[in-house]
Amino acid sequence: MAVVTSLRADENHPILVTGGAGFIGANFVLDWHANEPTPIVTLDKLTYAGNLHNLASLQANERHSFFHGDIGDVEFVRSLLSKIKPRAIVNFAAESHVDRSILGPEDFITTNIVGTFRLLETVREYWTGLPHRDKDVFRFLHVSTDEVYGSLSAESAPFNEASPYSPNSPYSASKAASDHLARAWHHTYGLPVIITNCSNNYGPYQFPEKLIPLMIHHALAGKPLPVYGDGLQIRDWLYVTDHCAAIRAVLRDGLPGHTYAIGGDSEKSNLDVVHTICDVLDQERPSANGSYRQQITFVADRPGHDRRYAVNTAKIRQALGWHPRESFESGLRKTVRWYLDNSAWTEDVVAGSYRDWLGRNYSAR
Ligand code: NAD
Ligand code: DAU
Repeated sequence: MAVVTSLRADENHPILVTGGAGFIGANFVLDWHANEPTPIVTLDKLTYAGNLHNLASLQANERHSFFHGDIGDVEFVRSLLSKIKPRAIVNFAAESHVDRSILGPEDFITTNIVGTFRLLETVREYWTGLPHRDKDVFRFLHVSTDEVYGSLSAESAPFNEASPYSPNSPYSASKAASDHLARAWHHTYGLPVIITNCSNNYGPYQFPEKLIPLMIHHALAGKPLPVYGDGLQIRDWLYVTDHCAAIRAVLRDGLPGHTYAIGGDSEKSNLDVVHTICDVLDQERPSANGSYRQQITFVADRPGHDRRYAVNTAKIRQALGWHPRESFESGLRKTVRWYLDNSAWTEDVVAGSYRDWLGRNYSAR
């Protein structure tokens, strides 16, 4: 099933990025390419969320190759690893949307749990066969989420690396399971695993099923802006490039067996986020019909909706010197401008099966 584009002979020990055609993965591939000399190989199944257009700027690039395949396809991953001999793997591949996990959890179990298990096993086999020096420097970085820790009350301290796991949705339960597997593969087999647990990302190339790009797209299309429940749920927002920089720092200096919590120190209610999007759009693309805020509509809540996420980033700040560069206001303005300048990207994405998804998720609300 693998579609292989050319792998150049000089690509000796690249890093392998799984799920690199999705939102954060693609931003990471582009960011890595701009900042690091090491070649990069992308593996992606190209589900509804994977989009090769995100990597179009690297199409003819000597330092990047793309392979179409599934992290759960053992034969395919085995042959890829033996061919490219990566010095690190960054695993972004996952089903990532909470609402989809509520309406259809099976894909989440298949990719996030079984797929991660198979990937860990195939990587362990590869890593076991490496010469000592390569074995020591190898890293398996598993990209995860703050949602594995469950929901915070208004008074609770933010999550940190020692917070107990308490996932509430099929998505977060499947990610929690994958974290446990990754951790166990380090503890039992010594595989040099590092786990990162990050808060809500936003920025270019995010699929318009997630809050921020969905609101921008609906606002410009003159459609209702569907706020779930009372809109007072809180998320901690991080601009995607800051997440990419954090992952590069963890790959460079993070310790095997460790977990790093990543977040933007930027807690906002959903209603505040939607208001800010409307206000930025009112400035950047004023509508003849008045403020985009008039399109806000309250709809039925998400079942089991987590009330609040927030992340304490003291460990990664102190141990690795990382901190977010973008404020929510500056990052959101950049994001809105990106979607305004790249309307063809959004139109292309929403033209396909995404339309069916909108019908399934919102018609009953
Ligand atoms: P996304 O849905 O935009 O992208 C996921 C990518 O994985 C897609 O390109 C898809 O084609 C690919 N994929 C899915 N199943 C695959 C499989 N079996 N084999 C190979 N590729 C497969 O997701 P995202 O928002 O970019 O999230 C990436 C990772 O970061 C996920 O693991 C997610 O849990 C985690 N994360 C996301 C956020 C966020 O706010 N988006 C925050 C923290 C952590
Ligand atoms: O916290 C990290 C997680 O953030 C990641 O692990 C997930 O992959 C990512 O999807 C995101 O999960 P959320 O559920 O927080 O993101 P989402 O964009 O789906 O929703 C953000 C908030 O906005 C949430 O409280 C639900 C609400 N919402 C969402 C949509 C799509 C609405 O009110 N209306 C909507 O139409």
